[in-house]
Amino acid sequence: MNAHNAGDVGSLPLAPRNPLPFRQRLKAVREYHIGQELLRETGGPVSRVTLGPKWLNEPIVWVTSPMGARDVLGRKDTACDRTAVHREMRHLMGDNIVDLPNEPWLSRKRTLQPLFTKQRVRTFGGHMSQAAAMVADGWGDNAEVDLDAECRRLTMRALGRSVLGTDLDKRADAFAEPLRIALSHIADRGMRPVRAPRWLPTPARRRAWAADAAMHRLSDEILQVCRADPTRDAPLVHALIGATDPATGRELSDQDIGNDLIAFAAGGYDTTATTLAYALWALGHHSEQQNRVAAEAAGIGDRELTPDDVPQLGYTVQVLHEAMRLCPPVAVAGRTAMQDIEVAGYRVEAGSMVLVGIYAMHRDPALWENPLVFDPDRFNAENSGGRDRWQYIPFGGGPRSCIGDHFAMLEATLALATIIRTIEIRSLQDDFPLAVPFTTVAAAPIQAHVRARN
Ligand code: HEM
Repeated sequence: MNAHNAGDVGSLPLAPRNPLPFRQRLKAVREYHIGQELLRETGGPVSRVTLGPKWLNEPIVWVTSPMGARDVLGRKDTACDRTAVHREMRHLMGDNIVDLPNEPWLSRKRTLQPLFTKQRVRTFGGHMSQAAAMVADGWGDNAEVDLDAECRRLTMRALGRSVLGTDLDKRADAFAEPLRIALSHIADRGMRPVRAPRWLPTPARRRAWAADAAMHRLSDEILQVCRADPTRDAPLVHALIGATDPATGRELSDQDIGNDLIAFAAGGYDTTATTLAYALWALGHHSEQQNRVAAEAAGIGDRELTPDDVPQLGYTVQVLHEAMRLCPPVAVAGRTAMQDIEVAGYRVEAGSMVLVGIYAMHRDPALWENPLVFDPDRFNAENSGGRDRWQYIPFGGGPRSCIGDHFAMLEATLALATIIRTIEIRSLQDDFPLAVPFTTVAAAPIQAHVRARN
């Protein structure tokens, strides 16, 4: 796949060092969504950022070209593995499919992947239609709502039903809040140039431990209920109980299942909610595109939308793709180089943290015409042809790409179509401020005016 095999990597030029002054470099790394664009502009598509001596901080290499993304994420060998952020997650939340290093992860992914095919996700997904209808009905006619808060509510409701077989939207204390605390703590420590030792019981660490314990109590409780009652309506939990590694026949332990249930809910919550909120906000500024979504959904008829309807919702899907281009919920995919590797013609040294800047690639004027313009037609069949497969990667790429991609697209499509077919949205804010406590989220309420569609 690379031009150079392992033996030749040594002859490549070292990834160039980013020339920004220290303070700006630090700021760019900490605000890593907008920061990555600045690092690309000043340092090029493969840019090495040092924040201190090597023995104290691993060098960070930002990669913002499709070729570089392929060289890092597309590798099938063991040269790239999990980062300090994943190690922090593993330490706090236990072994799960997101944080396991490649070697023990392989069996886990083989076991879980078959549950997440396009066909299989329909057996536990699809709860979004009802959740979206319920939330939108509650808005009434002529109201002002916070799109972000509303999308979080409906995503938590649907995700709770799909993943855990329980209602979570009214129990923020049981999941949403603990998740926020745990993920912020993990990202904060993982990206910190200097970390306090793990054993030190700081107030932040105590809060993170308590948050993790709350999530585990919930997943353990649900698992025990499902083990005792095979008729309990929680198809994903039952599927996990029955899942085996096709290569070894090994089943998942209760601990594995509990950890992965949390990983699925964690992986799906902020990401799906932000995608929906951004799509609604963007449509709230583009009435023509909004009317196209409404007409497409109305064409299906006046009944609850089901997974079978998704093939008729092609434009709605394009809107979601465009939302995830401009606002990729996972702004960065990180790896640790376990040996010297080639990235887009440069050498990246063993021990570096390699960060693929999805946000910067999705907005790069060299890759996209008028990159900041919201235009879902970029993703119609005609315009998508010939695009580099690595320039648009909202779900990542390669062996560790998102296991929940089909599930997320199913749910987001049903939610967006369900809302827009009955509600007309007018966004009240010009921008959609972003923050990246872990994944990309709205940094402030996203106010919109909503009224019933005639
Ligand atoms: C719009 C919604 C979503 C987006 C944009 C998204 C994006 C991503 C990305 C970019 C990765 C790869 C990260 C990397 O390479 O380091 C990833 C991994 C993952 N995602 Fe998602 N995700 C979404 C929804 C979901 C959902 C609903 C689930 C629940 C099942 C999920 C579960 C996971 C898991 C378990 C992984 C780790 C896979 C592995 O390491 O093998 N995601 N996601």
